[in-house]
Amino acid sequence: MALLAQLSDAHLIELDASEREASDWLRLAFLSSYRPSRAESRARKLARAFARAREAGADHVVFTGDLTEDAAPAQFALFAQLVGESGFTREQVTIIPGNHDAYRGRDAYARAAAGTLAAVARTSHEVFELDNVRVVPLDSTLDQHYVRAAGRIGVAQREHLRDVTQPTLVLQHHPPLAHVRGPLAWFQELVDVAEVQRAVAATQQLYVMHGHVHRDRDLFPLGATRPRVFSPRAVVETDASVRFYEVDERGVRPLGERQD
Ligand SMILES: [Fe+2]
Repeated sequence: MALLAQLSDAHLIELDASEREASDWLRLAFLSSYRPSRAESRARKLARAFARAREAGADHVVFTGDLTEDAAPAQFALFAQLVGESGFTREQVTIIPGNHDAYRGRDAYARAAAGTLAAVARTSHEVFELDNVRVVPLDSTLDQHYVRAAGRIGVAQREHLRDVTQPTLVLQHHPPLAHVRGPLAWFQELVDVAEVQRAVAATQQLYVMHGHVHRDRDLFPLGATRPRVFSPRAVVETDASVRFYEVDERGVRPLGERQD
């Protein structure tokens, strides 16, 4: 059995933002307007979350997106520095992007993922095994304006949700089940959430860890007898943001009490 820790949504801000141009300030001010915590405190919370995972003896850590507030290279570099100082090896940490990490374009994220981040974590979206469970990191980001927070899994990545023959853990930033009603869904949801939701419900051996909602939740896809969709609270919002799971040939099981 492996002990897996999930962290999500650190929304890091660079410690020195004085070099920003006016348009960069506007984006950062908009995105941070409902998250008043300062750059230092965000970095401290992420360091603490990794320390908690280390103290618990986690074999692997997954970070399910929104590393940064607005995808500045210095924010990715700060994230990489904190992961590097965490004591986990590169092979023990898996990172996927969130919508905030693509607000300067998906290419900008790809550059960070191949550079500073790749030195300290798995960022390639390659499938790997963790104690007989296939782990499938997906990228649900879109190129979009920062007022929108939608995502897409897309046809090619949705193939990973079909013909599953062993316990499989999918990592994606956006929830795989519809979570917003009405017109607001356009701003928040996967554009292909209906297809993803159907596939997750149809496959009993499929588990999903996601971020985005900043809430500690276990969800039951339609017809499921046990929870198979998990999310933690956001690192940016609380000191109690790490979730732990047991992972083995029987699947993925969350540990401990949930926070909300
Ligand atoms: Fe977030």
